Amino acid sequence: MPENKIIQIGVIGAGNIGNVHMNEFKKVPEAAIVAVTDVYLPLAESRAKEHGIPKVHASYEELLQDPNLDAVIIAVPNEMHAPIAISALEAGKHVLLEKPMAINAASAKQIIRAHRASDKILMVAHQMRWEAINLQVKEQIDKGSLGQIYNVKAGWMRRKGIPGWGTWFTQMSKSGGGPLIDIGVHMLDLSLHLMGNARPVSVFGTTYAEFGPKRKGIGTWGKPDWNGTYDVEDLATALIKLDNGSTLTLDVSWAAHTDMLDNQPYLYVMGSEGGATLRGNKGRLFTELFDRTAEVELSVPDNDEGARVRQSRHFVECIREGKEPITSGLSGLANNLVLEAIYESSRTGSVVTLDWNI
Ligand SMILES: NC(=O)c1ccc[n+]([C@@H]2O[C@H](COP(=O)([O-])OP(=O)(O)OC[C@H]3O[C@@H](n4cnc5c(N)ncnc54)[C@H](O)[C@@H]3O)[C@@H](O)[C@H]2O)c1
Repeated sequence: MPENKIIQIGVIGAGNIGNVHMNEFKKVPEAAIVAVTDVYLPLAESRAKEHGIPKVHASYEELLQDPNLDAVIIAVPNEMHAPIAISALEAGKHVLLEKPMAINAASAKQIIRAHRASDKILMVAHQMRWEAINLQVKEQIDKGSLGQIYNVKAGWMRRKGIPGWGTWFTQMSKSGGGPLIDIGVHMLDLSLHLMGNARPVSVFGTTYAEFGPKRKGIGTWGKPDWNGTYDVEDLATALIKLDNGSTLTLDVSWAAHTDMLDNQPYLYVMGSEGGATLRGNKGRLFTELFDRTAEVELSVPDNDEGARVRQSRHFVECIREGKEPITSGLSGLANNLVLEAIYESSRTGSVVTLDWNI
């Protein structure tokens, strides 16, 4: 690919996050969104009008046949991630796939196999890795300032945040799960990233559904469909062991009678030489100096361009330079393996060992 070529992108799924991508990629001059599709065609048409996207395709199959497109962004409900990502890779398109990579681990493995058979870029959208504070913490971890990371506590406890009650979000067959797969996957992905991508090997966890079935805990993301169904969890808790002996505890809810950290995502990293705390968009580093505790406050630069722009630019750079994205298919599989194991552990009451065979 010529170095100065503008990467031509098509968006599959013009819903909430598809719209976010349409806005964010405007800030990346090396790429242009030039096509869009959605099963609900009027939505694709109105987004095209709003964002000046020249081509609306009638289906994702038609969009994938568009020879002008180098890459696609897949922003559809979770059950469709694998079939569309595999078709896109087979059609010779680079893929930016929304999180979670797949609805379950078997589908994630299918995507990896399709990716290995292609020469295209596969990247999973985990913008939290690109938050300014999180980048600063990762930089210190990579420099060795925190020593060996041996324990992480991460979570996101929403008090009243069930998205789109009754829509695909709350149907197991379409989403693969509740808050665990929706927002828990962000905290899981960020934790594993900060822990140096040691492999998770076993999981013990439990899930609960105390709000959704009673139509309580309703949030503001998505419109409820009161004729729909709710058969996913609304709270999950788990202990995850990694192959280097380190541990990760993960707690997540869409709804719970608690004000834990004011509904914000949090992550506590404990290393042999230092620690780090992330709460919302605030961060601190910790160590011990001269027999005293010492702390450094981290801050977001005033002119910060934002995590999603950095994520979008990384996708384009990976395509142009043929390099592997930091949120690779294997990192997506790690997330899917852990999520699935938490659900299985909750069902069986036992520790679940992860099956990494692809
Ligand atoms: N990274 C993030 O922070 C973030 C935030 C929200 C959602 N997401 C992820 O993005 C995906 C979409 O979530 P959303 O909130 O935008 O949902 P949404 O319901 O708002 O949008 C999904 C869109 O996909 C369309 N669609 C469904 N099947 C399709 C198909 N076969 N072909 C074309 N279009 C199809 C729907 O009509 C809908 O417009 C999910 O996987 C979700 O987990 C990620």
